[in-house]
Amino acid sequence: MQSQMLLLAATAAFLAPLAEALLRFPCSQLVTQRFDPLVTPGIVSPHVHQIVGGNAFNLSMDPRIDIAKTSTCTSCRFKEDKSNYWTAVLYFKHTNGSFIRVPQIANGGTGDSNGGMTVYYIQPPKDVPVVSFAKGFRMIVGDPMLRTDKNINPRSPQAFALTFRCYDGVPGSDWAYAPGVGPFESIGLPKKACPGGIRSNTFFPTCWDGKNLDTPDHHSHMRFLDAPVPSFGIFYLNGTCPSTHPVRVPGLFLETVWDTKPFLDIWPKDGSQPLVYSMGDPTGFGHHADYVFGWEDDSLDRAMANCNDRGDFPEDCKELTVLTDEEINSCTQPVLVDEVTEGVYLPALPGCNPIQNGPNPATAIQNCNAVSTTIARPVATPF
Ligand SMILES: *[C@@H]1O[C@H](CO)[C@@H](O)[C@H](O)[C@H]1NC(C)=O
Ligand SMILES: *[C@@H]1O[C@H](CO)[C@@H](O)[C@H](O)[C@H]1NC(C)=O
Ligand SMILES: *[C@@H]1O[C@H](CO)[C@@H](O)[C@H](O)[C@H]1NC(C)=O
Repeated sequence: MQSQMLLLAATAAFLAPLAEALLRFPCSQLVTQRFDPLVTPGIVSPHVHQIVGGNAFNLSMDPRIDIAKTSTCTSCRFKEDKSNYWTAVLYFKHTNGSFIRVPQIANGGTGDSNGGMTVYYIQPPKDVPVVSFAKGFRMIVGDPMLRTDKNINPRSPQAFALTFRCYDGVPGSDWAYAPGVGPFESIGLPKKACPGGIRSNTFFPTCWDGKNLDTPDHHSHMRFLDAPVPSFGIFYLNGTCPSTHPVRVPGLFLETVWDTKPFLDIWPKDGSQPLVYSMGDPTGFGHHADYVFGWEDDSLDRAMANCNDRGDFPEDCKELTVLTDEEINSCTQPVLVDEVTEGVYLPALPGCNPIQNGPNPATAIQNCNAVSTTIARPVATPF
């Protein structure tokens, strides 16, 4: 209880001066499988993703489908949020060469969600006008093929946008630091075992071209702020948008907590780093995430205009309907790719994903003979 109180205080301390409007809420796991309706619509994705949000998520998602209406439930705390958010997953490579998916756990102060992620929507400082995302909006941040940080300016927003926090297991020791800042943070995967687990931090760009809801590469309609990031990190959202992408949108930020604690006893003794992203990335520079907007009607605009949930109190937002842990944990989808991706040791990463260390960009494997079709299963209709 005491540590929970401290955590809330610490979260509020670094968020309070930063944002006018703020939502911070958990989304439980909807499903984990090789689906990526943005990059590979209609076909099984090359690598495994963990997906949260509304249950209209599908192998392909035509932007004309109103997922806020076709979803019958969401794994996120607010009933109005039928968006989907997804990232690659981490595997632990045993010294004997087998792989097992690293479990995800609920983040501090967010309740008892089943794995999944914590989602933040952050308003820039009050005098900066912000336009909410529109129906059909999608974007991707990060590049799954990247294996080096050589071309990332360490003071640029990019360097603060996709990072990892290495929890040292001492309650409170890292709470003074915003994502992307401080001694516990790295752009690539931590190079040592982290006694308290690892949190990946994913900040999407906040400047939109004002025209395209999506683009073929799913990112060129978006840019990061121009300004150098202050020592407080990208959380501050202080800066200006480039003239090509002049429209400020809410800051969308994801945190995923990877429970690496069960592997500490079998961590390699030779100092090698045993974690690998599902696309065969042991560096972490291929960290990426996808977003499909799916809020009902103008619910996100109303929340951004009127709500500051102080980081951990969703019920403070009277514009939105708060779901219980039980409700968000019961919104799941069946796995439709006939393969095992988690829970047991696997001889190889699902799909065709040999480990590619870089520093050159990874290359896609041709003539992959992994499972490429989906199976028809009755879709459950939760509450
Ligand atoms: C996914 O798409 C298939 C094919 O269009 C459709 O039959 C199915 O109902 C969709 N599932 C969901 C959950 O919308
Ligand atoms: C590696 O070790 C794990 C854990 O003991 C075991 O489940 C797996 O079968 C082993 N794999 C091989 C190839 O020996
Ligand atoms: C935010 O950025 C503006 C413009 O660079 C600067 O004038 C202002 O002092 C900054 N505010 C804070 C709190 O850093």
